[in-house]
Amino acid sequence: MSEARQILVTSALPYANGSIHLGHMLEYIQTDMWVRFQKLRGNQCVYVCADDAHGSAIMLRAEKEGITPEQLIANVQAEHSADFADFLVDFDNFHSTHSEENRHFAGLIYTRLRDAGHIATRSVTQYFDPEKGMFLADRFIKGTCPKCGAEDQYGDNCEKCGATYEPTELKDPRSAISGATPVLRESKHFFFKLPDFEAMLKEWTRSGALQESVANKIAEWLDAGLQEWDISRDAPYFGFEIPDEPGKYFYVWLDAPVGYMASFANLCKRRPELDFDAFWGKDSEAELYHFIGKDIINFHALFWPAMLEGAGYRKPTALNVHGYLTVNGQKMSKSRGTFIKARTYLEHLNPEYLRYYYASKLSRGVDDLDLNLEDFVQKVNSDLVGKVVNIASRCAGFIHKGNGGVLVEANPEPELWAAFQNAAPSIAEAYEARDFARAMREIMALADRANAWIADKAPWALNKQEGKQAEVQAICALGVNLFRQLVILLKPVLPKLAEATEAFLNVAPLTWADLATPLANHPLNAFTPLMTRIEPAKIEAMVEASKEDLAAAETGSSPKQGNGELLKEPLAPQINFDAFAAVDLRIALIEKAELVEGAEKLLRLTLDIGDEKRNVFSGIKSAYPNPAELEGRLTLYVANLAPRKMKFGVSEGMVLAAGPGGKEIFLLSPDAGAKPGQRVM
Ligand code: 2FM
Ligand code: ZN
Repeated sequence: MSEARQILVTSALPYANGSIHLGHMLEYIQTDMWVRFQKLRGNQCVYVCADDAHGSAIMLRAEKEGITPEQLIANVQAEHSADFADFLVDFDNFHSTHSEENRHFAGLIYTRLRDAGHIATRSVTQYFDPEKGMFLADRFIKGTCPKCGAEDQYGDNCEKCGATYEPTELKDPRSAISGATPVLRESKHFFFKLPDFEAMLKEWTRSGALQESVANKIAEWLDAGLQEWDISRDAPYFGFEIPDEPGKYFYVWLDAPVGYMASFANLCKRRPELDFDAFWGKDSEAELYHFIGKDIINFHALFWPAMLEGAGYRKPTALNVHGYLTVNGQKMSKSRGTFIKARTYLEHLNPEYLRYYYASKLSRGVDDLDLNLEDFVQKVNSDLVGKVVNIASRCAGFIHKGNGGVLVEANPEPELWAAFQNAAPSIAEAYEARDFARAMREIMALADRANAWIADKAPWALNKQEGKQAEVQAICALGVNLFRQLVILLKPVLPKLAEATEAFLNVAPLTWADLATPLANHPLNAFTPLMTRIEPAKIEAMVEASKEDLAAAETGSSPKQGNGELLKEPLAPQINFDAFAAVDLRIALIEKAELVEGAEKLLRLTLDIGDEKRNVFSGIKSAYPNPAELEGRLTLYVANLAPRKMKFGVSEGMVLAAGPGGKEIFLLSPDAGAKPGQRVM
């Protein structure tokens, strides 16, 4: 192995206003596997990340929840950290962009850019919400599409006809925050003069720092001409005030990538062997890689290198861009139960299953990756359980029973051992190149050879013959050694399996260098099953639980999330009477209200709606943990909502409740005298 490299690695910083889902996990798992590979090889590799904690969406969500933004981001950081840890994503540091280090570096980079003449100011006219007293980002403005007339479209594009436009072109614009009609107002904005860096960017983006398809995309943008970038937002805004400019804040995307630096600087305080300048200084010889999704290429391939260059820092060695996740061939969908949160997955399945599946499908490109749930079960069961773990379980018993648990010194098939040795460099190359799929294929081909050899030698048959004990021990010693090789090769992907194997083998943490030497004359510990098969029922349960998350959200018991979604519900656009009349609202009597076994958020309600009974699953358990208290109560019911099939049965329609969620869900009831089945108008 060549001299140890110094490598700093980042994954994109998740927004601090929503949960991590399996789409996010693709990136964190990909990065983590690469980092673990580098560490296993003996390189000094540091992996940092942080929550992306600024912006108006976070400010408004905190307001809606009645907490401060600081409380919100602390809660989310705790949730994110637990999700990552449980998926075995091992950051050296997980920080926050709302930190002193980030304030320092964002301010420093800005003032250096300003003092070098790379900041311009000019007046910008934008929609302003007079009720809320704030300027409105495009996604907080809604109105009628100027092209096709579709109502309720966002300020910059129409979901119906695909048109893009300026918010000022929308007809009947309104604030998505307060519902007020916005007014145009002028304000001074600060711009980063990106065109100053055109020559540098043309060179850097063709220097091998980008995958080819990414470089081609960027070339299109560069050819079209670079624009100055608006980096300021007016108060009220949750972020950092721009130095010397009271009331003006850095736009969240200005200080987000600076968060990579800030997280590293924060880590340096705890790890004295790390020198900030050795990694970020202009002449740094360390490598710097950002793993990102293809949706945020512009920020990382244009703005960020230009900011670094202008402020006197080094630029990234490379961006490692990946595609999106689809589930069962389609965009993740809440109603199909394929919008799966990290936590929901973890409640049902072992994180290493997903790590392996992603590895088996990830290569260097930016293509989307499909998580096909049937293929997932099949591949994990056949490869990990059927091929890898199986080798150890076939051999360990004979060593314990026949030789007191001591693995003998023996190499009964030197060619097979050599084949493993010879395969390792190519597998290392594949890991290095982020071609995890190739690495997994080559590792599984080795596992196949090991299994075929053991099957051919059949130690279980030999063991029954007189005088074959030494042969059995030799076969099983090689078997366990080949298993150990496989586990080392898989360790970046399956760190927990490796840990359990180290305990069984009675050895110190395995490294890549351990591939060179087999165990010999070595006492093993007792063998316990290292990994079990995925039961398809667990997948079903996870999908159902994801639908349940949705049912809970529909009943209002889960605050809306995501930067693009509305925070305070504005009044919806007008509808005509026919549209209203299409909703069949009825008075319903709750005859029975029960807990649902296995459901965290749902109650099962049996409703009397006059001539009929209806079965409804409603996500109101958090507010009504003793459901019996609901029995005999009248409520309002949407009778003609299409039924939804859930694990627990079919939910027919929906009862109406208000409130932000948790304990504060309020089931609606009519005045006394109303009768079940009466139409609500
Ligand atoms: O797209 C996102 O989810 C952003 N929060 C990513 C930020 S990455 C970095 F630049 F901070
Ligand atoms: Zn339209």
